[in-house]
Amino acid sequence: MKKVVMSTALGFLMAGVFTSCGNNGGSTGGSNSGDSATGTATDTANASTPGIHQADWGESDGKKVYLYTLTNNNGVQVKISNYGGTITSWVTPDKTGSKSSIVLGFNELAGYLAHPPYFGATVGRYGNRIAKGKFTLNGKEYTLATNDGQNHLHGGKKGFDKVVWEAAALKNDQPSLTLNYTSVDGEEGYPGNLRVTVTFTLTNDNELNIDYNAETDKATPVNLTNHSYFNLTGDITNTILDHSLMIDADKYTPVDSTLIPTGQLQPVKGTPFDFTKATKVGARIEQVKGGYDHNWVLNRKGNDLQMVATLSDEKSGRTLQVYTTEPGLQFYSGNFLNGSIKTSDGKPINQHTAMCLETQHFPNSPNQPNFPTTILQPGQKYHTTTKYKVILNK
Ligand code: BGC
Repeated sequence: MKKVVMSTALGFLMAGVFTSCGNNGGSTGGSNSGDSATGTATDTANASTPGIHQADWGESDGKKVYLYTLTNNNGVQVKISNYGGTITSWVTPDKTGSKSSIVLGFNELAGYLAHPPYFGATVGRYGNRIAKGKFTLNGKEYTLATNDGQNHLHGGKKGFDKVVWEAAALKNDQPSLTLNYTSVDGEEGYPGNLRVTVTFTLTNDNELNIDYNAETDKATPVNLTNHSYFNLTGDITNTILDHSLMIDADKYTPVDSTLIPTGQLQPVKGTPFDFTKATKVGARIEQVKGGYDHNWVLNRKGNDLQMVATLSDEKSGRTLQVYTTEPGLQFYSGNFLNGSIKTSDGKPINQHTAMCLETQHFPNSPNQPNFPTTILQPGQKYHTTTKYKVILNK
């Protein structure tokens, strides 16, 4: 796990140009830096102006929920809610100039309150599975909420995807949104009060940077990720089976029947898990029981941000590049989507119509001493970064 001093990141944001735009009197829902914001406000009537725009989006747990629209100089727009730290849409042009969202999401908060499978959410305290919801730390056994058969998945029954985050800072110039959430000692069974800060930044190079920081007062597992479902055609009636995927990984972590890694790091060579050269998602998916839902052991070395995967769709001309500081990538091919959930305009979300590329530490690491550690100690700073970048091939 990469840990660096985080004070600079927050200090930088606080020195930036803030706006408390929106139609709600400018409250960002917290007593933090957003309220004392000064600077240029974006045009509240027009969310398409470059910068960040805040709009009321409802309520959950008695707290106000907002939808933030980040717009860059190219007119590319990313919408993020403080409910679950959720990316609800990412509108980019295709090669003909026609605009559509490349991620799955709803127009209304109600869609998320019905608990879809983590559409666009910030996932934590531990992204992915912990076997039987148990782990032992400093001689003490901890029992977590189980919400995926016998296992703990994506932070438990009410993970970070289902809570209202505090919008701590909004910045116009290179639009960015900083969200804070404090997960209390014992929440979902985890030890320690964990203070989490996630910053989303949309650049003029059509990159979405996600920067994760956390601190704890007791040793605890932490594994934060984003759960966006991509369909680069921008049309949910198409599957992602024709998308070409490259993952820079020579190994993956095979799993048991409950999707818990066996602990081995297996070579991908000669298997349907070999994406070292760009290959269509659908080319060998039939050979993988249930479809892809595995963690790849990235070849990346060191702590810096490196490109680890690319996803391309020839039809739209869009390519998504994935950069991360993390050692692993969960590629989930939307296997459990079955048409029962509908988009805001009533289209069924069928199997393999969207896929996730979740940057992370490996699943079940707290029970696998041979995997890179996910334990954050008091006094340490958790810091990871993931960047998704959209490129247009004409
Ligand atoms: C998991 C899948 C799960 C999906 C939605 C993915 O990260 O790997 O097994 O079904 O999230 O919960």
